[in-house]
Amino acid sequence: MLKTLLAVGVAASAIAASAALADDNTVTIGMILPMTGPSASTGKQEQAGAQLYIHEHGDTVAGKKIQLIVKDDTGAPDVTKRLAEELIGNDKAKVLIGFGLTPLALAVAPIATEAKVPEIVSAAGTAMITEKSPFIVRTSFTLPQAAEPMARWCLKNNIRKVATLVTDYGPGVDAEKWFSEPFVKGGGTVVEKIRVPLKNPDFAPFLQRVSDDKPDAVFVFVPSGFGAAFMKEFVDRGLDKSGIKLIGTGDVTDDDLLPSMGDAAIGAVTTHHYSAAHDSPENKAFVADFEKANNGMRPNFMAVGAYDGMALIYHALEATKGSTDGQALIDAMKGAKWTSPRGPVEIDPATRDIIQNIYVRKVEKVNGQLYNVEFDKIEAVKDPFKAAGN
Ligand code: DHB
Repeated sequence: MLKTLLAVGVAASAIAASAALADDNTVTIGMILPMTGPSASTGKQEQAGAQLYIHEHGDTVAGKKIQLIVKDDTGAPDVTKRLAEELIGNDKAKVLIGFGLTPLALAVAPIATEAKVPEIVSAAGTAMITEKSPFIVRTSFTLPQAAEPMARWCLKNNIRKVATLVTDYGPGVDAEKWFSEPFVKGGGTVVEKIRVPLKNPDFAPFLQRVSDDKPDAVFVFVPSGFGAAFMKEFVDRGLDKSGIKLIGTGDVTDDDLLPSMGDAAIGAVTTHHYSAAHDSPENKAFVADFEKANNGMRPNFMAVGAYDGMALIYHALEATKGSTDGQALIDAMKGAKWTSPRGPVEIDPATRDIIQNIYVRKVEKVNGQLYNVEFDKIEAVKDPFKAAGN
């Protein structure tokens, strides 16, 4: 009896040891994204961006094999939360990445804190997200970072009267505030602040109000994937011929949708951190590789957020020599600097947000296709929400 028990004991510990060995040699990264539903384009772009990084840089870092597991949260925060718990508990994921909308990133913050697992926010953009857990690091952008430079551009370019139209949730509220406040402070007038629902937005009645207000410009934030529906209504209401200029953060002229938006988008001026037309050798290689791997699909800012999220994870694993201790990984991410397809970037060690250039761009036709063509830039922009002491 004793002998049998001992034998069982040895066998069990042998299995445990081999499982530990497998764990030690593989780093599982859990990627949670809306792969279906209204934000599915974010999921598609992010997944392709992460996979391209692994394809280009190999799936071994600091002697560890990288395993990327992608899960579809359908855009529902309760699903995001459950998937995060399963990825950490069952799949032993050591890093989580993705989060296509602000509520989805927020749903995982307490889990990241509790499990001490880094949560890389590579898509969502509400400024306060990184304050919800010391284990959150962001490789996308913040709406205040993108919106404030637009206010300055308007003031310099004789745009005095603006109506704002934003999607009514975190990033839209941030965009509205961080455009309007500096704009008004600089002498501009916001004639109307309109918010449209995130679910099933009908832009028509709101755009009718904008048309009646006759401002110099309408400042728009809609999340990635919603820009084409907005543009259609903009044209149907005749706003493209009204002399009212379309301005906003770059989400509305998202590179994923821009090729299909039609000539009405030409002339739209936006401020953002990434354009597929960004002129650098790193970006030219990125766009070419991405299009080749994805049937000609053009990368947008979501693809770059995920590509850079993987770059940051690789950097951290190199720095920890393959240790997956959550705190060690976060410490290694703070202050990390690299050249992204978007230009030079750095993780602010104080806020864990990304410091990056914000470009002023205009939609133009290049070789017969619509692009956001950059014509000015503000260098090394920190998230102004946190810089203001929030
Ligand atoms: C968010 C989502 C987007 O698609 C976008 O373009 C910007 C922000 C968000 O939910 O945070």
